[in-house]
Amino acid sequence: VTTRAKLREAVAAERSRGHSIGLVPTMGALHAGHLSLVEAARRECGFTVATIFVNPTQFGPGEDYQRYPRTLDADLAALASVGTDLLFAPPTEVIYRPGATTFVDVGPVAAPLEGQFRPGHFRGVATVVLKLFNLVGADIAYFGRKDYQQSLVIRRMVADLDVPIQVRVCPTVRESDGLALSSRNTYLDATARERALTLSRSLRLAQEVVVSGERRAVAIIERMRRLFADIPSAQIDYIALCDPETLEPVTLVDRVAVALLAVRIGGTRLIDNELIIPPSK
Ligand code: PAF
Repeated sequence: VTTRAKLREAVAAERSRGHSIGLVPTMGALHAGHLSLVEAARRECGFTVATIFVNPTQFGPGEDYQRYPRTLDADLAALASVGTDLLFAPPTEVIYRPGATTFVDVGPVAAPLEGQFRPGHFRGVATVVLKLFNLVGADIAYFGRKDYQQSLVIRRMVADLDVPIQVRVCPTVRESDGLALSSRNTYLDATARERALTLSRSLRLAQEVVVSGERRAVAIIERMRRLFADIPSAQIDYIALCDPETLEPVTLVDRVAVALLAVRIGGTRLIDNELIIPPSK
């Protein structure tokens, strides 16, 4: 469905049958990571709604809004193959009414990392996600851990604004060689794809370095950075070790931290993250 009225009607009908509603918000160009969210929703909820909306307000000037992959036919087939009950794929004007000026600003957890390199990104994400929550009226919403900071931003918003929905954050789905699935992987040619493996390698290295006894964040980050030194055209936006809840940088990995990085490989900006867990003493 593409209109608010049809969406509301379909969801209300399922509610009246006693079904709980699961929501999987996406921007389309679906891959197995998205489908794993649908599968998680189907395990828990009686009726699963996916949304596809390439949200203009979360793209900055010069970013890839225009060229973001739009693959509706393939997405419909993929969603059907995992038993999605309803797809809401509205045009831009259904989501953003002319003259709309209200945005959601989540504050400190949205400020560093992606927030620093993509100013306004999380304002756009939080706004559209709140709108989708309000439009669908789901019980549980599903997001991928690959967008780690996004999941914290959404949890913060839900808590601060008393949004009546539960948020589930599901594991990152990776290719067998470690590459985290992303719609933006379609921009990578074979060489860039090979180079992109350095992101997941650097995360594995961080864990190994911690297991071998190093606890100093600067030293761990330096080891991760060095992996990119030999990669032509790699441009690091950030490599950070942070508190998993607040995203404040840690100086020592003496308890669980999250390693996050954003790197441009041949012009394609990729992000990845993993929890880094020091061995128990
Ligand atoms: O993660 C995404 O695909 C998007 O940021 C989201 C949550 C669908 C909002 O546009």
